[in-house]
Amino acid sequence: MNTVYSINEVSMTFDLRSDLREITSEYDEKKIFLIFEANTWTHCWPLIKDFRPVPESNILILEPGEENKSIQQVIAAWDGLGKAGADRSSLVINIGGGMLTDLGGFAASTFKRGVAFINIPTTVLAMVDASTGGKTGVNFRGLKNEIGVIRQPKHVFLYLPFLRTLDRHNLLSGYAEMLKAGLIADQELWNRLKIFNLDGYDEKEFGRLIWRCVEIKKEIVTADPEEHGIRKALNFGHTIGHAIESESLRSGDPLAHGYAVAYGMIAEAALSSNLLGLTAGAVSEICQTITHLYGNPPAIIKDQEIMLGWMKFDKKNRDNHIIFTLLEEIGKNRVNLEAGEEEIRKVLVNVSL
Ligand SMILES: NC(=O)c1ccc[n+]([C@@H]2O[C@H](COP(=O)([O-])OP(=O)(O)OC[C@H]3O[C@@H](n4cnc5c(N)ncnc54)[C@H](O)[C@@H]3O)[C@@H](O)[C@H]2O)c1
Repeated sequence: MNTVYSINEVSMTFDLRSDLREITSEYDEKKIFLIFEANTWTHCWPLIKDFRPVPESNILILEPGEENKSIQQVIAAWDGLGKAGADRSSLVINIGGGMLTDLGGFAASTFKRGVAFINIPTTVLAMVDASTGGKTGVNFRGLKNEIGVIRQPKHVFLYLPFLRTLDRHNLLSGYAEMLKAGLIADQELWNRLKIFNLDGYDEKEFGRLIWRCVEIKKEIVTADPEEHGIRKALNFGHTIGHAIESESLRSGDPLAHGYAVAYGMIAEAALSSNLLGLTAGAVSEICQTITHLYGNPPAIIKDQEIMLGWMKFDKKNRDNHIIFTLLEEIGKNRVNLEAGEEEIRKVLVNVSL
């Protein structure tokens, strides 16, 4: 393998074609299925297309975008796999952002009770978060990731050149999950991310920062794959973030996942201050860094009824209590914290727009 970094089944490679050739060498080409969405087909396939000849019928191209992370597209993937003769000894390779790795992972995990799959993330967000950890799924009846299973990919390959065609909006969306990794687990990483220049970025340094985030996620997920305890650390910013994201999806104007999480982190930093004594200096540093990159949160964050309505649906809840992961300090999190409605209303109302 042409590995720059690796931990277990996740590696960052400088020669993806040859690594793919190697890892698929045990499979006949008729057993290999590639799943793209239209944009990754256009931008990413040209960078790997001669890794091995794959029959055209084994290449499935789905619709891109969060609004298409749906059960209908899973059915399209199952149909494609079925028609082309996939069976339990096949290998599915998902090439795309988090929408595609979540959906393709779910389609593979459920087809004939489970076919092995490899994730090749093509966005920052999918590299540092969605493609590892084994959570797969789709949105259902307007609820994010409502249907899914946890199943680990056979391998995950990170290949930095894919990011060259990613627009700034999506680069920033993934960067929010990187900021989160620093905030929950590594103050030094946070300090490096705060000053990193994303305009015309240095690919090697970006690769190092991305890899540190992968290490953090791997450590946490390995310790708690089923999310009974410490894995919940990854949810910082996500309780309020998911409410913002779900509402934006419902209103027909979907906000990128990372932006919603970034705004969620602003509100949850304030909650951390009220409940855990995160210092005012840290809260202001977090707010300034995030608003500088993402602008101010959308006005909907102040609609307490709508936000609380979504939060009550959250999978992270227990016995109807709204559960948060919060910060004691930058680099140190605490999971399973319950906040009362009044506490939540207070921080929502005080977010500056
Ligand atoms: N499974 C998990 O643990 C986990 C964790 C975090 C987020 N997620 C999920 O990830 C999804 C968001 O991921 P995302 O931000 O990658 O979204 P995405 O997959 O929709 O990609 C964002 C946009 O970038 C385009 N794109 C992808 N790769 C490209 C490339 N190399 N060049 C040019 N354009 C490219 C896509 O077509 C899309 O328009 C959400 O559905 C979220 O729920 C899952």
